[in-house]
Amino acid sequence: MDDLFDNIPAPTDSTSRLKELREEINKHDRLYYQEALPTISDAEYDVLFRELEELEKKHPELHDPNSPTQRVGGAPLDSFSQREHLIPMLSIDDVFSHEEIGEFFARLQRNLGIERIPVTIEPKIDGVAVSLIYRNGSLDYAVTRGDGTRGDDITQNVRTIGRLPLSLGPGAPELLEVRGEIFMPNAAFAKMNEERDEAGLQTFVNPRNATAGTLKSLDSREVAKRPLDFLAHGLGAYDGPALDSEVEFHKLLDTLGIPRNQPIWKGDSLSEIIQAIEELDIKRHGLAYGTDGAVVKVLDRPSREALGATSRAPRWAAAFKYPPEQKETRLKDITIQVGRTGVLTPVAELDPVFVSGTTVSRATLHNQDEISRKDIRIGDTVVIEKAGEIIPAVVKVVTAKRPADAQPFILADFVNHTCPSCGGPIQQADGLVAWRCGNFACPAQAVTGITHFSSRKALDIDGVGESVAIKLVQNEMVKTPLDLFTLTEEQLANMEMDAAILQSGDISKPRRLGEKKAATILTSLEKAKTQMPLNRWIYSMGIPHCGESSAKELSRLHETIFDLADSQLLKDLADLPNYESLSISKRKKENHPVLKDYEIDDSLGPVAAQSLVNFFKSDAGLHVVERLRELGINPKSDNYAPKPSEVDTSDLPLVGKTFVITGTLSKPRPEFKKLVESKGAKVSGSVSKNTDYLLAGEAAGSKLDKANTLGVTVLDEEGLEKLIGA
Ligand code: IVH
Repeated sequence: MDDLFDNIPAPTDSTSRLKELREEINKHDRLYYQEALPTISDAEYDVLFRELEELEKKHPELHDPNSPTQRVGGAPLDSFSQREHLIPMLSIDDVFSHEEIGEFFARLQRNLGIERIPVTIEPKIDGVAVSLIYRNGSLDYAVTRGDGTRGDDITQNVRTIGRLPLSLGPGAPELLEVRGEIFMPNAAFAKMNEERDEAGLQTFVNPRNATAGTLKSLDSREVAKRPLDFLAHGLGAYDGPALDSEVEFHKLLDTLGIPRNQPIWKGDSLSEIIQAIEELDIKRHGLAYGTDGAVVKVLDRPSREALGATSRAPRWAAAFKYPPEQKETRLKDITIQVGRTGVLTPVAELDPVFVSGTTVSRATLHNQDEISRKDIRIGDTVVIEKAGEIIPAVVKVVTAKRPADAQPFILADFVNHTCPSCGGPIQQADGLVAWRCGNFACPAQAVTGITHFSSRKALDIDGVGESVAIKLVQNEMVKTPLDLFTLTEEQLANMEMDAAILQSGDISKPRRLGEKKAATILTSLEKAKTQMPLNRWIYSMGIPHCGESSAKELSRLHETIFDLADSQLLKDLADLPNYESLSISKRKKENHPVLKDYEIDDSLGPVAAQSLVNFFKSDAGLHVVERLRELGINPKSDNYAPKPSEVDTSDLPLVGKTFVITGTLSKPRPEFKKLVESKGAKVSGSVSKNTDYLLAGEAAGSKLDKANTLGVTVLDEEGLEKLIGA
């Protein structure tokens, strides 16, 4: 350890040692992230880091939000505050062909009155736009694009991104607004999704969604665990030595250690632009992040200023969107996948082809109608592309290449009217194209059913994701989700999991699930059994048309699942005449007795009601009720209050009063809404002459003005407390 500190002068006092440590760690962060050339080992780095943590703990007065120790995240927020952009964050106009890029360039030539215009061409990063404000070399705050004028302050979350420097070295200008994209590198995304699946967590659809979802988290400690990255692509507000061209801006970013988007091409004619766009098209699938376009930008700042912007986008930039790559391949076969609700989905089995960065060997064909409409036959040569660059799809058949023996495909005949997973009979519901397997214990349905049952929003069974569900069903340990409650720790711990493909590309040995994971699963199951409220149980059943909000409304109207199973209310709802043509809220206005008595909200429509009635009549539904009784599980509603008219509200202090809530308050607005509603008041979104009170927080805007004009009583939080006698 002595060696390590050889080159660091002896600390004079805590302040200077602290400064030294922060600088030293920043330097190593930079060597590690920017240059990929670490000069110390992880262990040595940890020693420095821990010393800094200790010192900071001893000296809270020397706290710095941009200290490297702050990258692990801080206390969760109640909500994001909003910030106005110093300069609006605009969009870019898209162009879709060489012809359109030609028109763009011709417009530049016309407007600037010159032939050759220096431009850059670079990948369009498929991420989330962010504006970073550095003042005097220190990250002040970070904001999302929002509506272009104001966005969310996501500074806490952004601080966790390792590649992004929190303090800049010498040469930092007074004010520097760096604009760029936050994204998740493709490889890190794939690894994270795999781990989430193993842990029984929901996986993300694509890196962009994962990034956007992560940045919306109010808990930066969670954000710190996600593999986010950042690349700069533009300058916003700036106060420092003149930067006349983008090249100088790039140099500044490099000096300051702010990572910037590359590769980047330069050119000053249309042919060079088109050449760069074509070169990037070849390169782009090898980039760390997703990209579906090339951004072309005028290089000189004075030219940019001369060109200006429309309200939507600058005139000096255009984004060329690559058409989705298409490839021809042979459709070898069609197989059938059975989903959670028993729907049979035809899947094209293809000769593997490389499309938009990955090898594709399967693509969904959706349903019989789709196959018939496109006249897809087994043996055909088909054109494949990735919809949204992600999900492979069959675009069309190359009929000229159709072999004489190509086989037309009729789903029901193909499977002999039986489910390919369990051999049970299949049916097609009236008016629907989809064929379904009616056997609730069908293994294919079991896997998706168990995965849904265990998902976060359902019963949150930690440790049961798709791969565990597959094994449980393959080993015949579980036939339906409720069978999970019969598993023992020993059974689970000894269950063999498949070998995994490691990041290195090696294949791991098959392994047991192990005691630790088994215990986690059993603990979550016990919690589900004893603590999860009725609405989560209803949602977990995966009943068609019954989502989270209808489940909540159902648990308001029913005390237990057994009440729900023979609910007269649901039958009445489902029996409403012509129900497809009128929404519940319209019917309420017509004073329909069922709806009037119960004040059912639109989240529980007649379609959902009919689906629930069908479910509880079906084998699957009858089985659920029976199995719950056998297992002694009886989840209770935590919001049961069937008929609002039966609840005596007459002595609540705010009965008959209407509130509007605005501005920034000490807690999120929904909490205040709940509070005043619990006192009998109604909350409305806009101020009118019927408004009784406006609860106004800081920076209240037009609503406050309107309330004042209409003479509506305006309350602050203290005033509200007095009013309700809290
Ligand atoms: S330059 C205002 N360069 O795309 C135009 N933008 O669709 C200057 N984006 O808001 C933006 N990669 O967040 C630029 N290499 C890149 C980009 C890029 C992604 C985003 C950016 C912009 C959005 C417009």
